[in-house]
Amino acid sequence: SETRVLALVGSLRAGSLNRRLAEVVRDQAPAGVTVEIAEGLDALPFYNEDLDGDAAPEAVRAFRDQVAAADRILVLTPEYNGTMPAVLNNAIDWASRPFGEGAIKGKVLGVVGTAVGQYGGQWAHEDARKSAKVAGANVADSVALSHAYAWGSDPTTDPETVQAFVDSLGKLVAHESVA
Ligand code: FNR
Repeated sequence: SETRVLALVGSLRAGSLNRRLAEVVRDQAPAGVTVEIAEGLDALPFYNEDLDGDAAPEAVRAFRDQVAAADRILVLTPEYNGTMPAVLNNAIDWASRPFGEGAIKGKVLGVVGTAVGQYGGQWAHEDARKSAKVAGANVADSVALSHAYAWGSDPTTDPETVQAFVDSLGKLVAHESVA
C-alpha cells in the first residue's frame, strides 16, 4: 500500500533551496511513496494555548489533519542563527498538542536539509530532532543529512546531492514504524 510522506519545509522564501530539494524528492519518490509538501506553515499563528482546543483556528486543524494522515514526516530545513527557523518550531509545537495525543505522536520523522554554513545546518537538524522527540515523534536518527552548499551554487542540480536526499527518503520509509 501507498506510504504517505508529509514534507515540512523550514523556509518560506520562494527560492528556498530546501523547498526545491523537497520538490525534487517528491518528484523522484520511489513507486509506492507519495510526498506531499505542507503548504501554509506561515498561516499558523504563533502557538498560544489560549487559541488551542476545540475552537483552534482552521489553519491549525487542517495542519493537524495533514500530520495525522501521514505515515512519515520528512523535515527539510535550513539553519537560522544556530537552530531551526521559528516557522518550523511553531509547526512542531502545534502538532505536539493536545499533550500526549498530538498528531505528531508516534510518527516516524526524519530531519535533513541544506544550509550555507560549513556544517550544513547540523545544529538546526539536531534541535529539530530533539524537539520532535520531546513532542512524541518516533525520530529516525539515521535519516541525517546536513548538506552544506557553497554560496551561489545550486545543490538541486548536483546529482550526488539529489541522490543523497532521495536516499534519505528511502531510509525514512524503511524505518520501522511501531504502533
Ligand atoms: C541564515 N543562514 C545560516 N546558515 C547556517 O548554516 N547557519 C546559520 O546559523 C544560519 N543563520 C541564518 C540566519 C538567517 C536569519 C538567515 C536568513 C540565514 C543561511 C542559510 O543557510 C541560507 O540562507 C539558506 O539558503 C536558507 O535556506 P533556504 O531558504 O534556501 O531553504
